[in-house]
Amino acid sequence: MKILVTGGAGYIGSHTCVELVKAGHEPIVVDNYCNSFPEALARVRKITGKNIVGYDADIRDRAALSEIFGKHKIDYVIHFAGLKAVGESCAKPLEYYDNNICGTLTLLEVMREHDCKRIVFSSSATVYGTPERLPLDEQCRVGGTTNPYGTSKLYQEGILRDLYASDNGWTVVILRYFNPVGAHESGLIGEDPQGIPNNLTPYIGRVVTGRLEKINVFGNDYDTPDGTGVRDYIHVVDLAKGHVAAIDKIDGSGVYTYNLGTGNGYSVLDVIHAFERACGHKLPYAIAPRRQGDVDANYADASKAEAELEWRAMLTLDDMCASVVKWMTLNPNGYKSNE
Ligand code: NAD
Ligand code: UFG
Repeated sequence: MKILVTGGAGYIGSHTCVELVKAGHEPIVVDNYCNSFPEALARVRKITGKNIVGYDADIRDRAALSEIFGKHKIDYVIHFAGLKAVGESCAKPLEYYDNNICGTLTLLEVMREHDCKRIVFSSSATVYGTPERLPLDEQCRVGGTTNPYGTSKLYQEGILRDLYASDNGWTVVILRYFNPVGAHESGLIGEDPQGIPNNLTPYIGRVVTGRLEKINVFGNDYDTPDGTGVRDYIHVVDLAKGHVAAIDKIDGSGVYTYNLGTGNGYSVLDVIHAFERACGHKLPYAIAPRRQGDVDANYADASKAEAELEWRAMLTLDDMCASVVKWMTLNPNGYKSNE
């Protein structure tokens, strides 16, 4: 199938393009490179050996999107494009709502105009707010998000459900990701955050490569086995395969919601120790105060995706850490390493 991948040069999008090609699909990318580099797409072409078409355009640009839909007979859209930094979203709520909500609205309108009514949407475990129970299944209460980024995901899910309610011809797949980490086995593509990383694994990666001095562990008094925060880390390649499974397995219109996680919770200290195994030496860390808005623990019940999509995360925490170490060692300055 011809699949328009919005945000396809980004971290999860680039890995998904690789898996789409492997599964025999044809990804067509639209990205405005506000948080990525054309080099990522060049490397996806290198890995796949396919000349993937990429458009440098903003999804809020109706004319540009319409032109892309006019040129290609798009069968499906995978919608990754959006802004995703939790802290930044608190400082710039209008920019976040504009990009994430207005971008999605424009995309859906253009899809409808071109009679393309199948979409996979990147949602997040953040929509569950403070977990009602663990593991989190898709029936758990959503809401109580604590930042504009999370709220924008909740609103976008609502917009998609309302759209389906108005026209049952749509196929809407909502994938709620837990914590994506890792990189492609080639070491050619990976996560490349700008500035000092907010998230744990890219931060640790920079300590491994000596660009940052030590890891700050945000709190060791949580209600978890070792007191540090517990999350469900999922390898980005497994996550990418989850998108392919959704596209290949779901037959017929409807709204389908799935958690994509491993079902395993690991603490911050577990992750640090896994990185130590991957790089072969001890990593310096210090206990720091809790970070505002963090929950004690968050992990998925991913059995619905397994039952309905025949998809299951296969890669381990050690695989994730080894792949990050490879990516960061080969590309110490991310995609700018070649410049
Ligand atoms: P990313 O920033 O690496 O990728 C997003 C891509 O979208 C970037 O290439 C960016 O340049 C592009 N983009 C942003 N706004 C755009 C616009 N208006 N028009 C065109 N392109 C635009 O992020 P990612 O980690 O790959 O995340 C992909 C999606 O998954 C996002 O929607 C994110 O919110 C969601 N998600 C990510 C995580 C995570 O931890 N990485 C967790 C849950 C959900
Ligand atoms: N942490 C540290 N030190 C750091 C960074 C993080 O101890 O330098 C801890 C956090 O306190 C938390 C854990 O590591 O316990 C994971 O934190 P991340 O920032 O890596 O990830 P979050 O779980 O906070 O959030 C991520 C994405 C969100 C997404 C969410 C989905 O950033 O966008 O996963 O569950 F919504």
